[in-house]
Amino acid sequence: MIDIRNATFYYNEPDEEDEDAGHKPALSHVSLNIPFGEFVAFLGRNGSGKSSLSRLLNGIELPTEGTVLVEGHNTSERSSLPAIRRAVQIVFQNPENQQVGITVGEDIAFGLSNIGWPQEEIASRIAWAIQLVGLEADEERPVSNLSGGEKQKLALASVLALAPRCLILDEATSMLDPVARRQFVETLHEVRKQVPFTLIYITHHLEEVTGADRWVLFRSGEIIAEGTPAKLEQDTVLLENCGLELPYYHRLAGLLRQQGISVPADMNEQKLRDLLCT
Ligand SMILES: Nc1ncnc2c1ncn2[C@@H]1O[C@H](COP(=O)(O)OP(=O)(O)OP(=O)(O)O)[C@@H](O)[C@H]1O
Ligand SMILES: [Mg+2]
Repeated sequence: MIDIRNATFYYNEPDEEDEDAGHKPALSHVSLNIPFGEFVAFLGRNGSGKSSLSRLLNGIELPTEGTVLVEGHNTSERSSLPAIRRAVQIVFQNPENQQVGITVGEDIAFGLSNIGWPQEEIASRIAWAIQLVGLEADEERPVSNLSGGEKQKLALASVLALAPRCLILDEATSMLDPVARRQFVETLHEVRKQVPFTLIYITHHLEEVTGADRWVLFRSGEIIAEGTPAKLEQDTVLLENCGLELPYYHRLAGLLRQQGISVPADMNEQKLRDLLCT
């Protein structure tokens, strides 16, 4: 559904002087193909280009060179932008920047009205979206009364109501504590079972994306590796190179193996706990 071909992107077009001064692109010769329904994690240090690429995907920014195709539509063609912006929805780090309604219901209704959702179906769609993300709030509840985690869920409900083909979560859990973060990730997986969509998940926390189909590693505006978590987890040097740290239970499993204790490869927190208890 997403096809990025040799995309290079500068926030400000370089002039010759800049080029001499080593003006660097935010993204450099990026190619990536994402089929519908895939769960992909974009990973890498601060400033490595993850958010820039997500902005190219819904046409907020256009590639300086190369092409970005979303379901066959080229983001550089102005006439394609409404379809692309509808297909690809982004939730950013701070949900408050995206909340436009006074109440939960108004907030979800805003996007629906914008895309011309039939007026008589908006109320039932709001109820559907609230229930889908497990937000324990009725539609009359003021947004200002929600906790940080509830605001994140509302941001998720507001975009899922629009039935996106692709959802990009750009550090959308960064405001949450570890418990709320785990709940949010679980909610997301429950939702994907009910309504399939492509999920691009940007995070600095690898434990949130151990269940991804693919990890894409960014460094200095380039994609330097991609593959399944099971494969890339093995390459600790590569991960370190991208500023990524495996969850503590991976390191613990490694230390146990060094001591000659047999630990299965598909380790997670629960399995390791069970193993240690036996
Ligand atoms: N609005 C902007 N104008 C100019 N340069 C920008 C802008 N936003 C980002 N950049 C630059 O583009 C490069 C890539 O930044 P980007 O925000 O895509 O990184 P990121 O991987 O999302 O980082 P983080 O993990 O900190 O969110 C960086 O060098 C950054 O300084
Ligand atoms: Mg970013």
